[in-house]
Amino acid sequence: MTKQDLISRMEGRFISQICGASSDIQRTIANWTKLMNVGPWLVLNSSPATISNLLANNKPLPENADFHSYCALASLGNVQLEFNQPLWGDDALPAFLDANGESWHHFKEHITPADAVLQTGREYLETKGLDIVSYGEIDQDRYLNVGTYAAVGVNLELGNTGRIQFPPEYQRNYPEGDHASSLAEKSRQWHAGELIFVTDHLENALSAWVKYLQVGPWRIQTIDDAIVSDVVMDGHAADGGKFRCRIGRCRWGDKRLTVIERGYGIAPVAEYAFRSKRGMFAVSFQVDPGKFDAKVAYFAERGIPVRLGGRLFGERFALLDTESILGVRIALSDFAGTDDGVETTFPAF
Ligand SMILES: [Fe+2]
Repeated sequence: MTKQDLISRMEGRFISQICGASSDIQRTIANWTKLMNVGPWLVLNSSPATISNLLANNKPLPENADFHSYCALASLGNVQLEFNQPLWGDDALPAFLDANGESWHHFKEHITPADAVLQTGREYLETKGLDIVSYGEIDQDRYLNVGTYAAVGVNLELGNTGRIQFPPEYQRNYPEGDHASSLAEKSRQWHAGELIFVTDHLENALSAWVKYLQVGPWRIQTIDDAIVSDVVMDGHAADGGKFRCRIGRCRWGDKRLTVIERGYGIAPVAEYAFRSKRGMFAVSFQVDPGKFDAKVAYFAERGIPVRLGGRLFGERFALLDTESILGVRIALSDFAGTDDGVETTFPAF
């Protein structure tokens, strides 16, 4: 694949959803509503009664298969936010929660029209040998999870984010009541600017992103204590703390993807790498430069410190300690930086 092929392949592609795994969906969405003003939520019962034409590991689900899980959906400005809580009959999500705790689980690439979702999944299977981990049809919604976990540390979901309307016994709204429209307005203020992944070997990870997902090209740079200014670690100005990692970055539509090679001296990355090895580490939300300090203070007042923050080539960023409250890790950034510090591009064309 030439550089131009890769750049052309990225045109028009869009990440439409980010999804976390929760062990108690009500606690998770209540905290997102209270702390983040995100909502209202549609909470669905996922089961054979509500999902049709299911595939699991490339095969139709056996007739008598039974499973049940909860799925909660809310709209942010440029992305849908989903949480899933397993109940019974499916081993994959409980295994993920056992291994990783509550954490980001997957993201979705927007695919239309509806019947292109299964078609695209079959192409991944036939041309790349990647399994159709799961596929389902929910009202007008089609979703398909491609088995990219072994390659890049996260499964790629394909979907049209179509209309979902279940009979009332299979869905509920949270919060209930008439303040839903003002909540929706606040929820739309959140703009997901970046998906951040952790890996153990940068070039191996990036070559898998290019080979299997055809995502790139990537700009590689080294981040260390010499180039990040105003460093904050675990809520305090870091005095001379040594840290280093390498990152690869690329654009995917209106979002940036960052893959961090673990390096040393960055506690939240080290903790994540120790437990999860590789995966979807955090999502960074865009904050106006003039409101950045106030936003960081808002979280600090609520007992949520900055785990790593600072300024990198003009860009303010703050990784927050939100996993125990929001079920996922989030960061804030003003995305006001430059491309200074880029050492090489990957692939090297
Ligand atoms: Fe999803």
